[in-house]
Amino acid sequence: MVHLEQRPRPRRNRKSEAIREACRETTVGPQHFIYPLFVHEGDADIPIASMPGCARLSPRSLLAEVERARAVGVRMIALFPAIDEALKDPHGKESYNPDGLVPRTVATLKSRWPDVMVVTDVALDPYSSDGHDGIVAPDGRILNDETVAVLCRQAVAQARAGADVVAPSDMMDGRVGAIRDALDAEGFTEVSILAYTAKYASAFYGPFRDALDSAPRHGDKKTYQMDPANAREALRELMLDEDEGADMVMVKPAGAYLDVIARVRDATTLPVAAYQVSGEYAMLKAAAERGWLDERRAVLECLTAIRRAGADVVLTYYARQVAQWLTGA
Ligand code: PBG
Repeated sequence: MVHLEQRPRPRRNRKSEAIREACRETTVGPQHFIYPLFVHEGDADIPIASMPGCARLSPRSLLAEVERARAVGVRMIALFPAIDEALKDPHGKESYNPDGLVPRTVATLKSRWPDVMVVTDVALDPYSSDGHDGIVAPDGRILNDETVAVLCRQAVAQARAGADVVAPSDMMDGRVGAIRDALDAEGFTEVSILAYTAKYASAFYGPFRDALDSAPRHGDKKTYQMDPANAREALRELMLDEDEGADMVMVKPAGAYLDVIARVRDATTLPVAAYQVSGEYAMLKAAAERGWLDERRAVLECLTAIRRAGADVVLTYYARQVAQWLTGA
């Protein structure tokens, strides 16, 4: 037998759950989660086939789900509306209707639970008859500055309804600064901006687009969302969003972009968020349903990895479920 007695033995720090817990570098809890929820105008919930456990919720069910989440410590939610086709147009005008689904829902949520932080998505895709995040020119180009003007109106309408955080997910250039100016000009200096800083043109958004019927009718999103091959470019987007006044920055998707999360974490003093997107959720659910993965262990491992990579905040469709697991509820 070899003599190892004098040698370092990392296993000593793993010998009991008490020691492991004391030495644990990363924690995951409900306080870290933002819970994305889908809402629509109907009276019934419409389950989303590719996202088991998620549905387009009626306004009433949405309130019930927020209550359940809040009861287990999830106090930040992100709202995504499914908009009636009849209200969609090429300019996404419904996006800044003060009586639209999102402003009404925000107002109800905030009057019921002032302590719940409501994050609203700023982008045109749910409202656009073209299914793009921006306005589409006749030749198919996505018009940047014209879009930013609409996004500013959308953000102000959301702030006026009581949104705590507006989250531009559109990837137009210059939108963070323009939205900051628009909010400040209307007196909404306390409304935060969570910028989708490094949002990649990802295949993992598929189930979300099914959920909202928001897939682009023509073309793809590659002229505004980032190329999955690029990481340095994320740092350039980060510099710009910081300069323009972002309060938090986001990397999206999360699981396949842990290196980007880590680089962004190292390059900024701002809080970093990461979005475990619909496709990541769908993969975990599908494998768990077949009995191919232990759902709890796999999900907690993924969320821990996202936190370990450097995310302070994690957007996840698992938020309420995980909080229940963790609290034994
Ligand atoms: C659109 C938006 C998307 C998601 C959040 N906001 C889809 C897209 O960019 O096509 C995706 C979220 C997910 O897949 O869970 N502004």
